[in-house]
Amino acid sequence: MGTADAASKDVTVRLAERKPIVVFVLGGPGSGKGTQCANIVQHFGYTHLSAGDLLRAECNSGSENGTMIQNMMNEGKIVPSEVTIELLQKAMLESGNNKFLIDGFPRNEENRAAFEAVTKIEPEFVLFFNCPQEEMERRILNRNQGREDDNIETIRKRFKVFEESSLPVIEYYKARGKVREIDAAKSIEEVFDALKVIFTTTVGKVVTT
Ligand code: ADP
Ligand code: C5P
Ligand code: MG
Repeated sequence: MGTADAASKDVTVRLAERKPIVVFVLGGPGSGKGTQCANIVQHFGYTHLSAGDLLRAECNSGSENGTMIQNMMNEGKIVPSEVTIELLQKAMLESGNNKFLIDGFPRNEENRAAFEAVTKIEPEFVLFFNCPQEEMERRILNRNQGREDDNIETIRKRFKVFEESSLPVIEYYKARGKVREIDAAKSIEEVFDALKVIFTTTVGKVVTT
């Protein structure tokens, strides 16, 4: 085994020992995942890890993968799982917390299967922010966070990737009774009210539905 393999194995083992609680937060671009994760962090003590934010930070750090990641994000494409999983694992270990909202991941079947195979972590449940495309488009175009991929051409590509690659992951978890669906078209307050019910009734209990 090479040094890099040995190091990532070490991270995986140390993470597994902590038996982290993981909630995946899924939904189309602009459905409000990041906004609500900030609320959940404040009220329920989770650490929020956005895969997109971690990838953007990796680009800005000037890492050797930076250009590849940047090019893929500008096309709305999904970065290879090994890159994203390594960033997630590192962030989980560094956080010192044991409860995580993993936002925008798994984004496709490759993400899902690789995360499970590498970390052996099963999500406690999966939040699905269901929102009409026109509303998501409106929100992204008003977002004003200076994101290069928040332009209409890339937005359309991201919607296509969401439908083709991410919705099947949600279906996968639906078939296993893991999905808690939210009407994400409602106001920020109403969406958070629905989330509060989920987090006060589901977390830590055995989910059988
Ligand atoms: P995501 O992380 O799913 O891409 P964000 O949380 O970044 O979405 O939200 C996208 C934009 O929409 C932001 O400008 C945010 O302030 C706004 N927003 C989030 N939730 C709502 C909501 N329920 N109603 C109206 N605007 C919202
Ligand atoms: O979730 P967010 O909208 O911040 O993601 C922005 C971009 O980051 C995606 O369009 C995609 O290019 C990349 N991404 C990825 N793999 C993930 C999450 C995000 O490649 N699991
Ligand atoms: Mg986001």
